[in-house]
Amino acid sequence: MSTAVQEKNSQYFIDLENQYGAHNYHPLPVVLDRGEGVFVWDVEGKKYYDFLSAYSAVNQGHSHPKIVEALVNQAKKLALTSRAFYNSNLGEYEKKITTLFGFDKVLPMNSGAEAVETAVKLARKWSYEVKGISENGAKIIVCENNFHGRTTTIVSFSNDPDANQNYGPFTPGFIKIPYNDLEALEKTLKNDAQNIAAFLVEPIQGEAGVYVPNENYLKTASELCKKYNVLFIADEVQTGIARTGRLIACHHENVQPDILILGKALSGGMYPVSAVLANDEIMNVIKPGQHGSTFGGNPIACAVAIAALDVVADEKLSERSEELGKLFRSEIEKLIAKTDLITKVRGKGLLNAILINDSPDSKTAWNLCVKLKENGLLAKPTHGNIIRLAPPLVISEEQLLDCVKIIEKTVLEFQTS
Ligand SMILES: Cc1ncc(COP(=O)(O)O)c(C=O)c1O
Repeated sequence: MSTAVQEKNSQYFIDLENQYGAHNYHPLPVVLDRGEGVFVWDVEGKKYYDFLSAYSAVNQGHSHPKIVEALVNQAKKLALTSRAFYNSNLGEYEKKITTLFGFDKVLPMNSGAEAVETAVKLARKWSYEVKGISENGAKIIVCENNFHGRTTTIVSFSNDPDANQNYGPFTPGFIKIPYNDLEALEKTLKNDAQNIAAFLVEPIQGEAGVYVPNENYLKTASELCKKYNVLFIADEVQTGIARTGRLIACHHENVQPDILILGKALSGGMYPVSAVLANDEIMNVIKPGQHGSTFGGNPIACAVAIAALDVVADEKLSERSEELGKLFRSEIEKLIAKTDLITKVRGKGLLNAILINDSPDSKTAWNLCVKLKENGLLAKPTHGNIIRLAPPLVISEEQLLDCVKIIEKTVLEFQTS
């Protein structure tokens, strides 16, 4: 029998995942083992800047000591009670998050998709019990190219074939309109306002490729919703918690949604924590037994979210994101002037994307991300020829400029290779 110990290198872990895990993701070939702040290390010890931040979940940086401390202390004390009993963290957390975001009530969940599902249920129930839509008649307006998660209902209103092909039959009751199209919104509202419960929208379409709508889109959309007695639901799972330079992206246009959906960085990426916020007139339609989750609002989630929100305020992450985002885009504009590989940079705060000058079916963006990885920066293409660039918001100006240098070097080398 061989006594050789198999070396647990990157390939070993990639092979394990390939053999034993469902192939529902196509990861970049890097195996991460450790993280701290803006950096992650692979199993061979190579250090990288993280420019994905777990799809904007790690806004506060990897393993933030204050969030780790909250997690560990609470795990030692009490982890889970279910909502069959009260716990000594939930109320404090609920007070904090509702005060911070300006709502009467919060409904705690775990993943982003669960929070979106919760918002859909809440809006429907409100529309029957308060607005007076007749049974099963409620419709929700959504946008083309949306990404709200992966449940059966959510993929029912996706137009991405990868997301919904062969997952039918789909949940009815959704009307799709183009994103960033106020005329389409008004027309749809005018046509059928009496049967429309809500308009569900991402303030910036993140997964679709960081599409920033025209100025005043959110403001006007929310006013139209008010006019037609339709709830304005903002899915800020990706754009919230300081990512775009404000606590939520709606604040760029002074919009207070009727229902706000948060997730991801609500826990600093430490733990699955999501939330749906609304005022009493809406939230009170859900009564005991009508919605819930074993883990939603558990003591660890509450302790972690309180710490994660404190870090956002203490370290002024919104302000940093706003300022560094402007610097980043202006530096990338300079690079665009030197290359024809990138055609555009767009985004808000530190949620940005570059457009690669090739077809969405090409491998160019993927190959560029592999080269960026070799040069010490991790990013991932979305929809073929778009690369999202979203570092943790705790990144310093010096680090950000270092990253710009890596991107520039990689792009210029790539062109000549
Ligand atoms: C806008 C938006 N909503 C919902 C989700 C789903 O969140 P989760 O993956 O935690 O279910 C995402 C995830 O990327 C998202 O970007």
